[in-house]
Amino acid sequence: MLPTIAWQDDAIVMVDQRKLPRDEVYVTCRTANDVARAIKTMVIRGAPAIGVAAAMGIAMAMQRNGARGTKQFTTDFQRTCDLMAGTRPTAVNLFWAIDRMKRAFAEEAHAGASVAEIQQRLVREAQAIHDEDVESCRAIGRHGAALVPDEARILTHCNAGALATAGYGTALGVVRGAIEAGKHVAVIADETRPFLQGARLTAWELVRDGIETTVITDNMAGSLMRQGQVNLVVVGADRIAANGDAANKVGTYPLAILAREHGIPFYVAAPRSTIDLATPNGEGIPIEERDAREVTHVGATQVAPAGARVRNPSFDVTPARLITGIITECGVARAPYEASLRALFHEGG
Ligand code: MRU
Repeated sequence: MLPTIAWQDDAIVMVDQRKLPRDEVYVTCRTANDVARAIKTMVIRGAPAIGVAAAMGIAMAMQRNGARGTKQFTTDFQRTCDLMAGTRPTAVNLFWAIDRMKRAFAEEAHAGASVAEIQQRLVREAQAIHDEDVESCRAIGRHGAALVPDEARILTHCNAGALATAGYGTALGVVRGAIEAGKHVAVIADETRPFLQGARLTAWELVRDGIETTVITDNMAGSLMRQGQVNLVVVGADRIAANGDAANKVGTYPLAILAREHGIPFYVAAPRSTIDLATPNGEGIPIEERDAREVTHVGATQVAPAGARVRNPSFDVTPARLITGIITECGVARAPYEASLRALFHEGG
């Protein structure tokens, strides 16, 4: 399976997602600052993957901070958590993972653990977050497979695959699950301007797995739907509010409208760590605005004139009413989402 992120000795190694598909190169992070920079600059990206990276970054940093006593260790821990929390605002998985690390720390401290014991616990917790994410993706794949007709052409946006998670993927986990269930499926990958996660990353990992993949530019989805060439849309999410409104890569919302217009099922696939019951609806989801250069340039080439104003909101919110179902590791939630999402946290652990 594709290694998105892994420990290597006392460092963290991640495939540089800015360079794919042209170059498969790996970035080694040795400090918390290295990990924070990797998340910010999108060496690693995708909601579950950045949560895993933050947790591993915290554990790694605290392995090195311990010699100066418990009080300083606690201060350094808090500072490292704050550093990770300041990297990207939209994906709630990041904050969920940091909170889990904080809870693990607090439990150990409360039990009177030594600095060395807390350090070990933080490493175990980060590893558990990593491993559970792969398990969740596989379960999403199994639940999602049942919704995929044989010979389906599945349209997806951005990259919600192995690269965006600890492995296997959420939306692409559904594709992989359907294939493992014996179905023949083909994927249509939106290119996903401006960062091109679809053309570069989704297509790369699917082609690598031998899954039939067609790349389109984002503005082609509507006409393909009209021609009957799309059977299903499956996308990931960065944060799902309590009412089912789902933030995902910008361009997801127009796809949901197109799918509704053409009577095509529109599914969101995400683990429970993406569900934010504390945010009542999509209005409360912070949307990251990224560097204008991502829009004005394609690679090193400038495509918009200097002097033009630029907007670059990185995510949009799809209203719950346009979502056919939310595929999680605990099953498929359907409207009304207030009740079905909440139930996911009471049933099935
Ligand atoms: O800006 P990115 O590349 O981090 O955005 C990623 C997405 O929008 C994904 O669809 C989402 O995080 C789900 S990943 C399983």
